[in-house]
Amino acid sequence: MLILGIESSCDETAAAVVRDGRLILSSVIASQIDMHTPYGGVVPELASREHLAKIEPIVTEALSKARVRLTEIEAVAVTQGPGLIGSLLVGVCYAKALAFGLNIPCIGVNHIEGHVYSVVFENAEIKYPALALIVSGGHTNLFHVPEEGKYKVISRTRDDAAGEAFDKVAKMLGLGYPGGPIIESLAIGGDEKKVKFTLPKISDGRPDFSFSGLKTAVARYVRENPVPWRPESKQLKDLAASFQHTVVRMLIGTMKKAAIDHQPKTLIVAGGVACNQALISAAKAMGRELCLPIYFPSKRLSTDNAAMIAAAGYRHLKRGEASGPNMTADITMRLQNFDNEDAELKRKRVRYRL
Ligand code: KG4
Ligand code: ZN
Repeated sequence: MLILGIESSCDETAAAVVRDGRLILSSVIASQIDMHTPYGGVVPELASREHLAKIEPIVTEALSKARVRLTEIEAVAVTQGPGLIGSLLVGVCYAKALAFGLNIPCIGVNHIEGHVYSVVFENAEIKYPALALIVSGGHTNLFHVPEEGKYKVISRTRDDAAGEAFDKVAKMLGLGYPGGPIIESLAIGGDEKKVKFTLPKISDGRPDFSFSGLKTAVARYVRENPVPWRPESKQLKDLAASFQHTVVRMLIGTMKKAAIDHQPKTLIVAGGVACNQALISAAKAMGRELCLPIYFPSKRLSTDNAAMIAAAGYRHLKRGEASGPNMTADITMRLQNFDNEDAELKRKRVRYRL
């Protein structure tokens, strides 16, 4: 089955042609990073206008790179949510209109589920039950996946997402955007043990993540140590390495405990932060220790792309699922469809991010 994937949830306009949910014939991504860099983050209105300008040429380029005619496409998979509403609407409206015109199914895909399936192109089949850690600029969730298409959130962030913490710390240090790659390269020459940051304790004992305390601790450390914080300084490298090390310890420590409790057959680490080498090394070491296979996407598939959306859409279509004409962008879309604790958490007034 030939699927056209479309992704426009944040600041990348992407289209891909994927065969049978596993073979990428083309994957084209137009990044808006340069446009948003002067503002230190994504400006939603600018993002949606840019998607509007880019979507048609990007889809055309994806088809031509795949050497596929539009009429050969058998289904369209598009990111339905979560994300920025204006950005999502561009992709969803375009995909629905295209599918309607071609008289083929259109399937709305959860962006986070897309990240889960970003690992299927370069790794062996996912064996279930699986544990999936999705770490990006907007989300930080650990899922128990007992079988294909079933998800329960085990851990979620109470405040910032992991990628957001990288971005905010980089912004605070005047290093630029996006912060993840900048901090990672600074950390290479630094001593990760130099600055001791403590891991947060969640007061109700849930295995959740929290990054805002760490961000404040970095700000306090900079204030209390009036050294020249130049990018080439050893102090800044040590600080970057220590911050990154703390984020990695928090993520992998939590995943390891969950792996011991749930006994999965596959571990998955995906999302924009999953191309961080310190995270990859720590995750691989955990996999070896627990004798479990661990899958990552390569760099081009770890940040937002449309191939992962097509891969996720394929699994839905194979199960006979397709979206009706009323499908629309949904910024609050959750990837949790069994044993859902959301209502209980709300009743207990537990504050968390999606
Ligand atoms: O998945 P993604 O492209 O977009 C979202 O869905 O959010 O992730 C972008 C995030 C940004 O916060 C960026 O700083 C982070 O991924 N990131 C990294 C690295 N590369 C990108 N974080 C840590 N280390 C990296 N090498
Ligand atoms: Zn993403």
